[in-house]
Amino acid sequence: MRVAILYGGKSGEHEVSLRSAASVIRHLDKKHHVQLIGITKAGAWHLQPDNVLATCLEGEEALELRSNAPSVLVVPGTGLRVYGARGSADLPVDVVFPVLHGTFGEDGTIQGLLECANLAYVGADVLGSAVAMDKEIAKALWHDAGLPVVPSITARQADLEHIDKLASRIEEQYGWPAFVKPARCGSSVGAYKVETRSDLRTALAKALAFDTKVLIEPFIVAREIECSVLGNGCPRAFPPGELIPSHEFYDYEAKYIDPDGARIVIPAPIHEDTASRIKEIALTAYATASLSGMARVDFFIDKKDGTIYLNEANTIPGFTSISMYPMMCESGGLSYSALLDELLDLAVEQKNSRASLKYDHV
Ligand SMILES: Nc1ncnc2c1ncn2[C@@H]1O[C@H](COP(=O)(O)OP(=O)(O)O)[C@@H](O)[C@H]1O
Ligand SMILES: [Mg+2]
Repeated sequence: MRVAILYGGKSGEHEVSLRSAASVIRHLDKKHHVQLIGITKAGAWHLQPDNVLATCLEGEEALELRSNAPSVLVVPGTGLRVYGARGSADLPVDVVFPVLHGTFGEDGTIQGLLECANLAYVGADVLGSAVAMDKEIAKALWHDAGLPVVPSITARQADLEHIDKLASRIEEQYGWPAFVKPARCGSSVGAYKVETRSDLRTALAKALAFDTKVLIEPFIVAREIECSVLGNGCPRAFPPGELIPSHEFYDYEAKYIDPDGARIVIPAPIHEDTASRIKEIALTAYATASLSGMARVDFFIDKKDGTIYLNEANTIPGFTSISMYPMMCESGGLSYSALLDELLDLAVEQKNSRASLKYDHV
């Protein structure tokens, strides 16, 4: 297949994307023809020269992104087109693989753009991506489906004016410590533990710098269990893994800066029945949020009483060779390369099933 890898991007997870994309390229079966499209932090798309790919295949570093390369435009109804010094040309591709994390990559925006250009793409569609990105909406759907989610209160800028009222609501419902996080971010950006009532305003104001909507949850002292799900109509769940952060919670430092920030144990050392229950919840969460392609569904197990909570779904999870998603698939018998092949096939299947629908009735 002719595969266009989209990487970089406008989100705060730009650098993580460079590492995920490098790993995807190294594991992709060499039978595929790869085109690298780097997206700058400003959002411009550039077709990378062949030596960027070659250098990446030889080394172990993150993928390079050159912004002095020809521009790529998404043309509605047509596909991709390259504009260089010597004019323009179509860029034929069979599948686009957005290896982009967070806002403008994982939230449905890029997916909508690719839909308009009739392109097949890896991962969840517009709706699934947008639902999974919005923790408030995803939790509401999951709660309705009878799944165990952590209770939360949604707060906005206006709540800063009535902080005592908000604090009293938190105390009525669960008390301190609480956990504050933006509804639509990732990488633990803007997430804070709030020890007492007097710390609420500062934490809320800081979280509101990252999103207009913030969730306030009880702080759960928990084990963090994750589960890879793969597929379209009949998805399957892989054996869950455990992430053991060395910090008080799995914050940004633990994720990306501290080399000893977390330990990974796959499969998770949990009872067989718990693992089955987690896989079952992950599959229901996947279907309820209208997901397709893939997702890493994340859980908490309360250390006090063993309660299982569904936390969130990530539709473009980390893809480095030490990332949980490909490692959990691997432990379930699916190699990284076979996983990538399956994702490409699922993307084509999704596109074909959409293309077979009638869009007019005359
Ligand atoms: N209610 C909570 N109680 C305790 N820790 C939490 C809670 N919610 C999130 N966390 C911690 O913060 C991390 C990031 O939160 P999460 O909801 O996964 O958002 P994201 O990963 O999208 O930034 C989690 O992995 C966990 O360590
Ligand atoms: Mg998370």
